[in-house]
Amino acid sequence: MATVAEVPGDRLPHPRWLSSANDRDYRRWRDARLARYPLRVEELLVEIRDPFRVTPAEHAAIMSRCDRANMALYAFGLMKQDELLLRAGLLSLGATFGLRAIEDHRSAGTDGIVRIEVVNEGGRNGYIPYTDRPISWHTDGYYNFHSPRRCVGAMLLHCARSAEQGGENRLLDPEIAYIKLRDDDPAHIGALMHPAAMSIPENAEESGAIRPVNVGPVFFVHPSGALGMRYTARKRNILWRDDEQTRKAVAALERILDTDPLVLRIKMSPGQGMICNNVLHDRSGFRSAADEGRLLYRVRYHGRICRPEN
Ligand SMILES: [Fe+2]
Repeated sequence: MATVAEVPGDRLPHPRWLSSANDRDYRRWRDARLARYPLRVEELLVEIRDPFRVTPAEHAAIMSRCDRANMALYAFGLMKQDELLLRAGLLSLGATFGLRAIEDHRSAGTDGIVRIEVVNEGGRNGYIPYTDRPISWHTDGYYNFHSPRRCVGAMLLHCARSAEQGGENRLLDPEIAYIKLRDDDPAHIGALMHPAAMSIPENAEESGAIRPVNVGPVFFVHPSGALGMRYTARKRNILWRDDEQTRKAVAALERILDTDPLVLRIKMSPGQGMICNNVLHDRSGFRSAADEGRLLYRVRYHGRICRPEN
């Protein structure tokens, strides 16, 4: 675990490794992160017998994956016949890992869960997640950042039906992205921690509602002392801070996400899911039979995965 220290004049704890002046602590933290990081996606997978009653051994197995990579993959029996039971199971699973503060999302059901599927009408129509098109690298809720305390810190994504072709995800822990960037050039980190590094312009929705402009950093420190990340690789409807160092940092991050050997890949099967501290991910385009299309359930949370005593 990272050592956390109070920084005078700042109410949020900062991990010691984060200081640009403290290279020794950074090296120690970096080496430990890289040594533990999984090289194969299978290392992240944990079988769960019942999402309503996670056993201590299953709990420990998921926590250890999250400690290593800020994410774990799980699999449990399908609950295919009963959507309400499945949705309740997902909420129970999240709560087992301290995740209870569900983001208020425009497309969520009353339980806070969003169905990710292809739609041709309704409020989700017109947004890329609800098509079969690819989605570029991002963290969830990058356009809904209000502070390190009020942002999407964790996410659960559960596969009910997979696509016939495609629909794969690439995954990368934001801490690994930070390490690769800092090792390339420490100035990248300063640029991406700038409080106005990335702006998402306001968005007028079909309903007439306006989502206001959203301005914030890429990297920030969560109240727990953990590193948070807010990012999208999309080129439209995004404004990067207009300076040379930001442009260099963004280009370096794009290169890392495109080529780094620590990027993991998975095509989730029905019954599999991911619980994570909002890691970087993308989605490839997909094709499904018309009647039984790809269906995932997604829950976004404020706060991060933690042990019950926290
Ligand atoms: Fe996403």
